[in-house]
Amino acid sequence: MDCLWIEGGPTLKGLVEVPPAKNAALPLLCLSLLTDEEIVFSSLPQVADIKSMENLLFGLGVEKTGLASFRCQKITSVKAPYEWVRKMRASVVVLGPLLARAHEAEVSLPGGCAIGERPIDIHLKGLQALGAEIKIEEGYVKARAPRGLTGTRFVLDFPTVTGTINLVTAAVLAKGETSFENVAKEPEVVEVCEALIKMGAKIYGHGGDRISVVGVEKLHGMRWTIQPDRIQLITYLAAGAITCGEVECKPYRKGTINAVIQKFEEMGCKIQEAENSIKLSAAQKLKPIEFETAPFPGFPTDAQAQFVACLTNADRALGVSVVKEKVFENRFQHVSELRRMGADIEVKDHTAIIKGVPYLSGASVMASDLRASAALVLAGLQARGKTQVLRVYHLDRGYEGLEEKLAGLGAKIWRAPQ
Ligand code: EPU
Repeated sequence: MDCLWIEGGPTLKGLVEVPPAKNAALPLLCLSLLTDEEIVFSSLPQVADIKSMENLLFGLGVEKTGLASFRCQKITSVKAPYEWVRKMRASVVVLGPLLARAHEAEVSLPGGCAIGERPIDIHLKGLQALGAEIKIEEGYVKARAPRGLTGTRFVLDFPTVTGTINLVTAAVLAKGETSFENVAKEPEVVEVCEALIKMGAKIYGHGGDRISVVGVEKLHGMRWTIQPDRIQLITYLAAGAITCGEVECKPYRKGTINAVIQKFEEMGCKIQEAENSIKLSAAQKLKPIEFETAPFPGFPTDAQAQFVACLTNADRALGVSVVKEKVFENRFQHVSELRRMGADIEVKDHTAIIKGVPYLSGASVMASDLRASAALVLAGLQARGKTQVLRVYHLDRGYEGLEEKLAGLGAKIWRAPQ
């Protein structure tokens, strides 16, 4: 097992090439289950979760026909086994496409994870509304729709991201029209809908609160370029902010991180947006801020940990920072590790109160999930001395070439056996 070493101090400056988005690529890969024609991506994120999704799909009958192209002439199994779902919760997004095309799916229940309980009750209720019979047996969701799915009206209790994707991918081949209300509006959801439309699906209203789907008989292949990963992009801008540096990222899609831009600006950073790039120039001293996480277009929970890391260093003379986590019930695991580096943070009722300290000090810290790991790396960039981030496999699930990209900006960071 590897770990990362970081020697804090350097001011980061330069340009980062942002890889394609993992959370868009995962459901986009599953669209290959919906057609017997080929799906071709211009490139895929080189991260562990994508390899896991590919392996899961190979077990269901998908073949890799090129570097980033896939084809599923026939679904050969409808079972997503525990060994894959346990590794990666996003495996659950095969449920909608399998039910749509094979009228049957057997997907292991994901169970809780480091950041919360994460039930899939809304996915299942929506599929039942579309006419699927659902049983939970031996830890598996067993879903069947022997005569196919039928259009319906369904209001989601919460705008779940993968839930919305599962329901839309189930409805595209259903008989008749479906309307989903209170759906997720994240750019990754919108992208999946756009890709489905390119495959011949009839989808309206994505990006808003209500999505309508008119079922079609058949979908066809497509070529697709995946949008840049907005959470990796935010992480590199945060690396600029915490080291008083200047970081530019490209490619960039305007409108995908507005809530975050606003908070960087409140912290005193200057943001310049261009057509295809974004640049952050940090203030000499960050200002404390307040925010709460929310579904899109609110502040993304996936960027909360990175912001908490930045705020450990904010100007105490200007007050405290208050960060409320409203999407997941247990997403402050980075806090205890940041405290070991000297941060002054108190967590109560899903809220972190952060009092800035002039500097953090390097320590050995343990990553608990993907974004918490990113926060620890950011803290290490600012800390005095050396920081060792253990369990780096969490980072490898969703960050592509993190240490090379940070080193390219001037960071002293290297990977070594743990
Ligand atoms: N929820 C329910 N019932 C459901 C579904 C969700 O109660 O049936 C709750 C969850 O427990 C949670 C909230 O709704 O409290 C939001 O969860 P959501 O379903 O939106 O999350 P997700 O679809 O499982 C995706 C991303 C996460 C990201 C969240 C929120 C993928 C593969 N994962 O998860 O990404 O944090 O949306 O934006 O798209 C990450 O990349 O680090 C990551 C965790």
